Amino acid sequence: MSTISPTAGQLLKERAERVLMPNYGSRDLALVRGEGCWAWDADGNKYLDFLAGIAVNNLGHCHPAVVDAIQKQAAKLIHTSNGVLIEQQIELAELLCEGTGMDRALFANSGAEVTEAAIKLARMWSVEKFGPSRYKIIVFKGSFHGRTYGAMSATWSPKVRKGFEPFVPGFVFAEFNDLEDVKAKWDQDVCAVMLETVQGEGGVRPATPEFLHGLRQLCTERQAVFVCDEVQCGMGRSGKRMAYQLAGVQPDLVPLAKALAGGFPLSALLAKGEFAEVFTKGRHGTTFGGGPLACAAGVASTRVLFDDAFLTEVGRKGCKLWGLLADIAKEFPDLCNHVRGVGLMQGLVLKRDAMNFPIVARRHGIIVNATAETVIRILPPLIVSDEELEEGARRIRAAMAEFAAS
Ligand SMILES: Cc1ncc(COP(=O)(O)O)c(C=O)c1O
Repeated sequence: MSTISPTAGQLLKERAERVLMPNYGSRDLALVRGEGCWAWDADGNKYLDFLAGIAVNNLGHCHPAVVDAIQKQAAKLIHTSNGVLIEQQIELAELLCEGTGMDRALFANSGAEVTEAAIKLARMWSVEKFGPSRYKIIVFKGSFHGRTYGAMSATWSPKVRKGFEPFVPGFVFAEFNDLEDVKAKWDQDVCAVMLETVQGEGGVRPATPEFLHGLRQLCTERQAVFVCDEVQCGMGRSGKRMAYQLAGVQPDLVPLAKALAGGFPLSALLAKGEFAEVFTKGRHGTTFGGGPLACAAGVASTRVLFDDAFLTEVGRKGCKLWGLLADIAKEFPDLCNHVRGVGLMQGLVLKRDAMNFPIVARRHGIIVNATAETVIRILPPLIVSDEELEEGARRIRAAMAEFAAS
C-alpha cells in the first residue's frame, strides 16, 4: 500500500489549525521567501505577488535599502522609549512632513492605531474649543479604518462590526462621493470628516477631486477637522506621495501605515497647523511607536518612495496596468464590469462574486485578492517592471478563463 506524504505547506496548515485562532479562516498558502515582485511557497512554487502584503510591500520583498537599514540598526539599537530623543524618528518625521505639506508626526505601530489617534485628536480639539457636545465625525459607507473600537465604529462593513455592539457613539455615515448627503447629515455637533482618499477594503473606490475639494471647503467653513486616511493608498501607491495630492487638496490629519517602513510595522499620524499642537504632554502615547528600528526602516523606505522620478514611473506603470486590465475586462464581457483605481492600486469589478478568484489565480502563479464581494484587487509592488506587469496580466487572463468556465 502506498501513502502520499503531506507537503511542507500541508504540514504547516495542520499545525496552524491546531494552535492559531481561526479569525483569518483556513489558509493554504505558506510563503517562505520573497524577492522583488516574486515570492516562493514552502514547497518551492514561485508566484508573482500582485498583492504586496495588502499594499505593504510597496518596494517589493526584501528591498536592499530596507534590509540594509534594518540589519545595521538592529546591531546598534533596537528599542529605547519615547522618553528619549530618537534620531531615526526625527529624520522620518522631517521626510514625511516635507513630502506631504504636513507639520508634525506622531508614530505608532498599525493603521488602526493612527486612525484611532486621529479620532481622539479631532474630538479633543473640538471639545476643548467648542464644548462637550461637539464630537460627531462624518464617515462613509464602504469605509474601513481598522479593528480597534474607535476605528471599527468608524468602519462601515457589517462583517467587521457584527457582534461588537455597542459601538463608540458619534459616527455618522454618509454616501461616499456625495457632497449633498454630507451636508444633509451635518449638524452643529460635527467636529470632523474622515474618509479614505481611495477606499481600499470597500472595493478600490477613489474619492473624486470635486468631492475632496468640497469636503475641504466644508471643513474650513464649518471649523471641522478634515482627515484623509492614507493607510492603504498613501506612500506612493497612487503615483503621488499621498493620494490627496492627485486632487491638490491639503487635509488636516493624515493617518499612514502599511508601506511606511517597507514591511516593518510602523504607522504615523501627520497633522497640520493648530491640529499639530493638540496632543500636548501626556495626552497620547504608545510604548513601541516610532522606535529606532522601525524608523530606520521607515527612513530607508520613504527616501525611495518619495523620490520624484520614482513616483513619475509609478504613475506611468499605473496607466499601463489599467490598460492591461481593461483589455481583460473587454475579453470577458459576461464576467467583467470595469476597472477603477489610481496608480498601482486597481480593482477589476466583476458582475458576479469574486471571492474565489484569488484561489484560481494562485493556480496560475499570481497572488491577488478580492474585496467588497465583486472586486479583484490588484496591488503590485511599485518597483514592478513593464515585463512583470505584462506577465501578471497574462496570468490574470488565464485565471479569468478558468474562472469564467467555473
Ligand atoms: C484605509 C485603512 N485604514 C486603516 C486600516 C487598518 O490598518 P491596520 O490593519 O494596520 O490596523 C486599513 C487596513 O487595511 C486600511 O486599509
